[in-house]
Amino acid sequence: MYQASTRLFVSTKSGASAADLYQGNRLSQDRVLSYTQLLMGETLAQRTIDKLGLHMSAKTLSENVKATAKADTVLIDVKVLDRSPIRARDIANALSDEFVVLVSELETPKPGAQPDARVVVEQRASIPESPVVPKTTRNIGLGIAFGALVGVGLAVLRDQLDNTVKDRKTIEELTGVGLVGSVPLDKERRKHAAISFETENSSTAEALRKLRTNLQFLGVDNPPRVIVVTSSTPAEGKSTTAINVALALAEADHNVVLVDGDMRRPALAKYLGLVGQVGFSTVLSGGATLAEALQETQFPRLTVLTAGTTPPNPSELLGSLTAHKLLNELRSQFDYVIVDSSPLLAVTDAAVLSTNSDGVLIMARFGQTKRDQLAHAVASLKAVGAPSSVPC
Ligand SMILES: Nc1ncnc2c1ncn2[C@@H]1O[C@H](COP(=O)(O)OP(=O)(O)OP(=O)(O)O)[C@@H](O)[C@H]1O
Ligand SMILES: [Mg+2]
Repeated sequence: MYQASTRLFVSTKSGASAADLYQGNRLSQDRVLSYTQLLMGETLAQRTIDKLGLHMSAKTLSENVKATAKADTVLIDVKVLDRSPIRARDIANALSDEFVVLVSELETPKPGAQPDARVVVEQRASIPESPVVPKTTRNIGLGIAFGALVGVGLAVLRDQLDNTVKDRKTIEELTGVGLVGSVPLDKERRKHAAISFETENSSTAEALRKLRTNLQFLGVDNPPRVIVVTSSTPAEGKSTTAINVALALAEADHNVVLVDGDMRRPALAKYLGLVGQVGFSTVLSGGATLAEALQETQFPRLTVLTAGTTPPNPSELLGSLTAHKLLNELRSQFDYVIVDSSPLLAVTDAAVLSTNSDGVLIMARFGQTKRDQLAHAVASLKAVGAPSSVPC
């Protein structure tokens, strides 16, 4: 919609003295208010329609006319809205001209006499350049401001509702122990789980070297050598990290054996390109000796005991005396025994394994692991009397 405006000036007949002038001015101001009503009335609208030959009702036209008078002045602003800018101008001008005629008719007491008041079109309308509705710039501005406000609001709300672990403080409060390391997100690990420490200096490799050092210094006199890697829920990076912690320790000249204690969803054989049929479960059930089941890898000083075929009763097998003896046997043969395991909240396997270990490394995934899940996982470890657990 376009808006064209005119300005009308109202004057009344008055004498020459100052008092008369003042009086005349007051009269004009009093009239101005009634004039605004007349300007928005249907009589004037009809006259304008007739003059311009418009096809619209007097009511519609009068609804698009707005007349306002500034207090204590004799000026009236007339604004006309129309879909066409040219017609808006024409209506505003015709309406103002008609109003001048209407006032002279109304204010002439008897034919031939001087009218008591006169209206002059002080400013005529021109073609409006831009529409007043829609106010594109204003609307875009408002939209951006509103969008930003809603966005910030949602972000704050999301943050308030976010109950995942995201910082060291939360993790340490929930677990009651210190954070030993942070492994960054590394898309390359999705293709190749193992990091070639000899050649790699990425931030992930550095983070794992730091984790290795922290693990070695956890107990200065008696550092943990049999370490179970677990987490609260699936897919939190247990297997990938277990592999790389083992490789980082092997890089530091330690003989390391990596054991797949996740008999339900074994991953090490797949991640490392090894044969998975004969492994931990095979040795525990007497199907093979430990020496037969251990596999050398392409990485120096890293030996792997895969999970073997999935037994019907993994928890029982892992909690058996044979398993206890097997882990002790591995402890005597290697400097470090890193055991990958199942999620704590799903099955008891990891908790059972933890009782045969020196320490448990609990993984938590940034922005994914929920606070209560981590808390429950730690509680389930404490319930079986696991040795000190450290989060990562
Ligand atoms: N640091 C990392 N950066 C990016 N992706 C990773 C990282 N660590 C692991 N992943 C990916 O996350 C997924 C789950 O990893 P992984 O198999 O190690 O987890 P998990 O906890 O052992 O899972 P499950 O509970 O099934 O045993 C895999 O696709 C893996 O490649
Ligand atoms: Mg796994």
